[in-house]
Amino acid sequence: MKNRFSRIIRPDDGRCVMLAVDHGYFLGPTEKLEVPQRTIKPLLPYADSLMLTRGVLRTSVNPSTNVPIVLRVSGATSIVGEDLSKETITTSIEDAIKLNVSCLAISIFVGSKYEHQTLANLATLVDNGEKYGIPVLAVTAVGKEMVRDARYLGLACRVAGELGAHLVKTYYCEHFEKVVEGSPVPVIIAGGKKLEKDVDVLELTFNAIREGAAGVDMGRNIWQSEYPVAMIKAVRSIVHENFSVKEAYDLFVKEKNNERKSTTITR
Ligand code: R5P
Repeated sequence: MKNRFSRIIRPDDGRCVMLAVDHGYFLGPTEKLEVPQRTIKPLLPYADSLMLTRGVLRTSVNPSTNVPIVLRVSGATSIVGEDLSKETITTSIEDAIKLNVSCLAISIFVGSKYEHQTLANLATLVDNGEKYGIPVLAVTAVGKEMVRDARYLGLACRVAGELGAHLVKTYYCEHFEKVVEGSPVPVIIAGGKKLEKDVDVLELTFNAIREGAAGVDMGRNIWQSEYPVAMIKAVRSIVHENFSVKEAYDLFVKEKNNERKSTTITR
């Protein structure tokens, strides 16, 4: 367990840059993730770990790649279905072991119609993970009508930790430090919908880290950026090198120019 967990949260600084590319499991071919392999490949060298489903892992990641895998194992619903919260566990523990994953990820929907079902899923997954030493990441508050404030997110993260999750993912909010304080396990943040300005992503990352986040599990704000490699490098500089927003933005601008040049040459 500890060995696998240390592949997710770096033991030297207690932080992580997890690249999320699991969106297709309920959103379908999301913009800029239509061909996952194309999105993932240039970003892999800068990701500490990769969060995805087994379908994308099998088809779009070279098995010789040594990046730690965070396998999403909940789903069976879609954006046009009856209710997003009606999830089940979609992958057996045996398959997760066969795929040599470092962590399992599952959504919980606190306060929604299928709250009980998703929390029971988490408890079952933790039991299975504990049997084989595989940590579990609980993903909170995905959904359309969630009020993402410290009270709700704090509740969702605490419930996840109490049920045995080893790590929780939530959203940044005002008084985020309260969410972190109330969680018995490390908290990482999702990026959410693409933000308008590049610097906003860096500010979000910086504030979350300053207020106690152990890192990011970020998707759209990286790969929907016009300069995804520059963006992941800049986010990384905040998470692992304690860069300020200004320092990270300067890095982004420099890397963006490199990325622009290399795209032009490739074309
Ligand atoms: C949502 O269900 C997925 O788990 C995403 O991985 C998560 O929301 C993080 O991605 P983003 O930064 O795009 O919000």
